Amino acid sequence: MTKDLKRVFLEELRSVKSMTDLSHLRVKYLGRKGIITLELRSLSSISPADRPAAGKKITSIKQFIEAEFAVVESILKREELQRELQANCIDVTLSGKFVPFGRQHPISRMLSEITDIFVTMGFGIEEGPEVESDYYNFESLNIPKDHPARDMQDTFYINDDMVLRTHTSPVQVRVMEKARPPLMIIVPGKVYRRDADITHTPMFHQIEGLMVDRGITFSNLKGVLEAFLYHLFGPDTPVRFRPSFFPFTEPSAEVDIGCILCGGDGCNVCKGSGWVEILGAGMVNPVVFENVGYDTEEFSGFAFGMGVERIAMLKYSIDDIRLFFENDIRFLRQF
Ligand code: PHE
Repeated sequence: MTKDLKRVFLEELRSVKSMTDLSHLRVKYLGRKGIITLELRSLSSISPADRPAAGKKITSIKQFIEAEFAVVESILKREELQRELQANCIDVTLSGKFVPFGRQHPISRMLSEITDIFVTMGFGIEEGPEVESDYYNFESLNIPKDHPARDMQDTFYINDDMVLRTHTSPVQVRVMEKARPPLMIIVPGKVYRRDADITHTPMFHQIEGLMVDRGITFSNLKGVLEAFLYHLFGPDTPVRFRPSFFPFTEPSAEVDIGCILCGGDGCNVCKGSGWVEILGAGMVNPVVFENVGYDTEEFSGFAFGMGVERIAMLKYSIDDIRLFFENDIRFLRQF
């Protein structure tokens, strides 16, 4: 009978495929109502003389079964671990997924390139609001209501008194209201005009400059702007100043550089003239100084303003300004 028990047990053990199978079998043999448990209990009905031998036998079978269970259990556990490792395995030899690098937008790059040059010369950086009052955007800069100069800058009106600033010049006035000369600042920022074609977008960037002190002359203006342009476009770049008009500067000038695309021979970017306009500038109009309470006898200064997109277009030979704002990766990746 005991031989049989071992044989039957081993047979059943062979069909164990999982930990669940194993625990079922364990209950069947060693559980409270298990085969071995019942055998041990039934010893009491055996005659005292035979009992020790029978007891020994059944105990040795019990030990045998426990030992077998332990072996099978460790095999099953190892298999399980193997399966788990295989399922979660990472092949470190696989080549990785390519994650492209981001980079600065060409306009941001141009902005920092330009501001860096002025900061090296000693200019500080100021900012101002993009939603601006009519007073700061126009009136304080000597552009009264109904003045034809307002037509130069097609304006987005928020209401009768508020506009999206059409230039960064209002920040000149805001800064001068709060500080006394000497002043040396640049103002980078977004500006807005109702305009859209291959050289205009409704939003674009300007950098304003302002220098005020005793004895500032047009020569200082020329010196600073030439130094700036030589830095940006190279020391051999031809630069010329042309008389112009802005209500907030007097005298005013527009500054051209020799066309960097055709070298001055004439092309469609410079419209055959060999020159391209790069910024507006002039001596601060005394009317503006009066508006901020500066003594016009004591102080003089110059101001200038430039469009960042325009400079980037020239520098990178781009013929359509809208490319900067379409966010086409193929375009942006080239910078
Ligand atoms: N604000 C002028 C413009 O947007 C540029 C400018 C600034 C001209 C400062 C002269 C002095 O056209």
